[in-house]
Amino acid sequence: MAVIEGRNLRKTYTLSRRNEVRALRGVDVSIEAGELVAIMGPSGSGKSTLMHLIGLLHSPDQDHGPAPELSLGGRDATRMSDGARTRIRAREMGFVFQQFNLVPTLTAVENVMLAGEYAGLGRRQARERAIARLTTVGLAERATHRPSELSGGEQQRVAIARALVNDPALVLADEPTGNLDSHRSAELLGLIRKLNREHGQTFVLVTHDAEVGAACDRIIRMRDGLVQAMELVREPTPDDVGEAAA
Ligand SMILES: Nc1ncnc2c1ncn2[C@@H]1O[C@H](COP(=O)(O)OP(=O)(O)O)[C@@H](O)[C@H]1O
Ligand SMILES: [Mg+2]
Repeated sequence: MAVIEGRNLRKTYTLSRRNEVRALRGVDVSIEAGELVAIMGPSGSGKSTLMHLIGLLHSPDQDHGPAPELSLGGRDATRMSDGARTRIRAREMGFVFQQFNLVPTLTAVENVMLAGEYAGLGRRQARERAIARLTTVGLAERATHRPSELSGGEQQRVAIARALVNDPALVLADEPTGNLDSHRSAELLGLIRKLNREHGQTFVLVTHDAEVGAACDRIIRMRDGLVQAMELVREPTPDDVGEAAA
C-alpha cells in the first residue's frame, strides 16, 4: 500500500513581485509502506521542498494548475486542519532537517526527549527512549552536551536520534549523512536498513551521496522542480515483505 501519494505538487516561492522561484513545478510521487527511498538531484532542484510537502510542513500551491492531491496513509492531507497535521507529524513521522534544528539551550538528551513529549510520552519514558536512541547512534556519552558543544556530525546524530524517538512509521531525512565521515555514514545506513527491515519503517532520504542512493530500494531523481526519473535499485525480496509485515 502506498503510504504517500502525491499528485500535481507545485510550490512557488515569491521573493518579490518580479522574483518568483518555481521550486516544484508539478510532481507526482508515490511511496510504498516499508520502502527505503532516496531523493537525489542537483542543489536547488526542489528536493527539500518536496520533503517539506510530504512531511506536512508546507502545503502545495492550489493555483496555476490542476488541483494538488496529497494523501498520507489514505488520509487526505489537503483537507486536514493544522492541528491534525501537527499531530500526525509528532506521532507518525520523524524528521532530520538539513540544518538539524536542535534547540540550542537544551542538552542532547533534552532535545531528543522533547520530540517524545510532543508525541505524548511521559517525561520518564521520553528520557529512557531518548537515552536508548542516543546510544543507538553512538552518542550516549554526549547526552548532557548542548549543541554548541558538539561537532556537526554529532549534532546530526542527535537529530537522527530525535527523529527515531517515537518509532515513527515514516522517517524523512534531509541529507542525513551530510556531516558524517564515510565510516559514520556507512554505520548510519546500516542502522536505517536494519530499522527498515526489522520494523518496516519507511524512509525517505534526500541525499547527494551516490553511496546512500545505492543502498536504497529506489531513487527518485529530480531536476528543475520536476521528477526526472525513477530508478529501481533493488527488487524487494519476499524476505523484506515478510519481515515488514511481521
Ligand atoms: N523559503 C524559500 N524562499 C524562497 N526560495 C526558496 C525557499 N526555499 C527554497 N527556495 C528555492 O527553491 C528552489 C528549490 O529549493 P530546495 O527545495 O531547497 O532545493 P534542494 O533541496 O534540491 O536544494 C531553490 O531555487 C531555492 O533557492
Ligand atoms: Mg535541500
